[in-house]
Amino acid sequence: MKKITIAIDGFSSTGKSTLAKQLAKKLHYIYVDTGAMYRAVTLFAMKAGFVENGKIDKNPLIGSLDDINLKFVFNADLGYAEMYLNEENVEKEIRTMSVSKNVSQVSEIEEVRKKLVAMQQLMGTDKGIVMDGRDIGTVVFPDAEFKIFMTASPEKRAVRRYKELLDRGEDVKYADILENVQKRDYIDSNREFSPLRKANDAIEFDNSDLGLEDQFQRMYEHALRIINKEA
Ligand code: DC
Repeated sequence: MKKITIAIDGFSSTGKSTLAKQLAKKLHYIYVDTGAMYRAVTLFAMKAGFVENGKIDKNPLIGSLDDINLKFVFNADLGYAEMYLNEENVEKEIRTMSVSKNVSQVSEIEEVRKKLVAMQQLMGTDKGIVMDGRDIGTVVFPDAEFKIFMTASPEKRAVRRYKELLDRGEDVKYADILENVQKRDYIDSNREFSPLRKANDAIEFDNSDLGLEDQFQRMYEHALRIINKEA
């Protein structure tokens, strides 16, 4: 069967990664969470002392980009790849609220985007990949055969994220999460370089009122139709 590229974009906490993981597993494709890459660069900046009072010191970060080595390592027990920053497993650390608070500002930096987009394009050369993020259908793989743009109300997304963080044992408040979701929506959609927007040929998919199984079935069938057409 011919392999295609599946690009999933959308606002934060719309369930992109859950859908992407399900599709990749079923189709035996590679899954890449590009948000994890922006989060890892953010963690690097925080550890290096380039973030103070919510402000990023851009120039030293840009000057250090060559010292940032990112890779995904598949964890067979978990069934997905974990993010490594300079040989250290940072999968848990990159999901914390403190990283979420700074990541949109780091993602605005053109040089950071250039580095990560080049890595992402390299990962997708052989197709058979499901990649999720904000600019996958518009910038990383403008020729992807299947593009999905996911949306859901900010409140629904904040509830999902709240539950996720509580499950991970973080001490968080719902109001803070809603604020973070709305702030990231704004920055992600209004930044100068590759802002979040729906590609013209993407299907818009609002999953506010859909269960995980339903959402997966719909998108899987859609993917199969495209794969069969391409064959
Ligand atoms: O998908 P996520 O919420 O883990 O992504 C974290 C942040 O990274 C998000 O606020 C915007 C940024 N991002 C981006 O700018 N481009 C991508 N392709 C993926 C994520």
